[in-house]
Amino acid sequence: MAGSSNALIEHLAGELDALREAGTYKSEHELESPQDAVVDVDGRDDVVMLTSNNYLGLADHPRIKAAARRAIEEWGYGMASVRFICGTDTLHLKLEERIAGFFETEAAILFTSCWNANEALFFAVLDEEDAVFSDELNHASIIDGIRLCKANRYRFAHADLDALADQLETDESRHRMVVTDGVFSMEGEMARLPALLELCRKHDAVLVVDDSHGTGVLGETGKGTMEELGVHGKVDVVTGTLGKALGGAVGGFVAGPGALVDILRQRSRPYLFSNAVPPMVAAAALEAFDLLEEEPERVRRLRENTAYFREALRERGFDVPEGIHAVVPILVGETALAIRMSKELLDDGVYVSGFGFPVVPKGEARLRCQVSAAHSKEELDRAIDAIADVGARHGVVDR
Ligand SMILES: Cc1ncc(COP(=O)(O)O)c(C=O)c1O
Repeated sequence: MAGSSNALIEHLAGELDALREAGTYKSEHELESPQDAVVDVDGRDDVVMLTSNNYLGLADHPRIKAAARRAIEEWGYGMASVRFICGTDTLHLKLEERIAGFFETEAAILFTSCWNANEALFFAVLDEEDAVFSDELNHASIIDGIRLCKANRYRFAHADLDALADQLETDESRHRMVVTDGVFSMEGEMARLPALLELCRKHDAVLVVDDSHGTGVLGETGKGTMEELGVHGKVDVVTGTLGKALGGAVGGFVAGPGALVDILRQRSRPYLFSNAVPPMVAAAALEAFDLLEEEPERVRRLRENTAYFREALRERGFDVPEGIHAVVPILVGETALAIRMSKELLDDGVYVSGFGFPVVPKGEARLRCQVSAAHSKEELDRAIDAIADVGARHGVVDR
């Protein structure tokens, strides 16, 4: 076989062995049905799905699928280049207008993922005379996006606004950007947006919020963390994904001031050098925004399901932090235990992920459950009973 004796490849094979030995090798489960509240996985039928970002249950929704099918018929399958070269679809323009309207910003620009949006942003708008301030628990795409830009970089301790205030006070850069996740996804914890906004206004800094996990989940009408915390339409720049609550496929965006969005069209590398969002994705996302607007009860159901699930787990004795977000962590302590419990739960008909160090602090390994509006009470009860059984088996809770 070509290259099989190459030293680098042998080195990589050794690294894989080390991962397996350490128990940190990530294996994937085979899904044999559409993404939904209940799935078929690894030969098991009817497994309650508690580890996808399908918060509103739109990933297999008939209207979303029909919108994508219609778009394929009407607009074709792919764009075959980037928008400034091959043309912008009417659907791109409609979706960008829709996203800007949703977040009450002047404009919005699409990317093929929120990863790309975050990677695009900082490099395109900041240079060496500027500075960017980032919460230490921000998503990897923000961290990498910041690495690519030439601005002075500050990292502040998680949610520590005094530390951020000190940094803003002493920094003398020309322009400043502060960036935070809207919701930190290991905890389901919201950023302190009103206080962050105040601090940014005081120090003439632009506030960027990545609300990937807030959009469609938080706020009375699903407009996200900003709506939940009473600052909707006030945050300067919002980045987000179409790959979670809004249909769960791919796609991301930056919404913000017209000049910033236009600069991204001129300069941002993922936009200029990587294919445009396919028309079917844009059409399905437009349908997802329609559904969110027409059926706000989905957001309410998600909140009710989450409250029910969280409370039931606490009643059974689990250590579940307070919160309202559909991410419901169950703290179990050691990484190996979280992983063992998640394996046993799959056998018992519940698909949930275990996370440990270094993704979360040592001793805070957890089962991270993600509730969906699509879950029925019966499905949630089935999951709660199975989690309680496995928890009792391992002495995490009493029987
Ligand atoms: C906060 C945050 N930003 C960005 C992303 C990446 O989104 P996408 O899948 O659209 O690249 C994620 C997804 O995990 C996320 O949680």
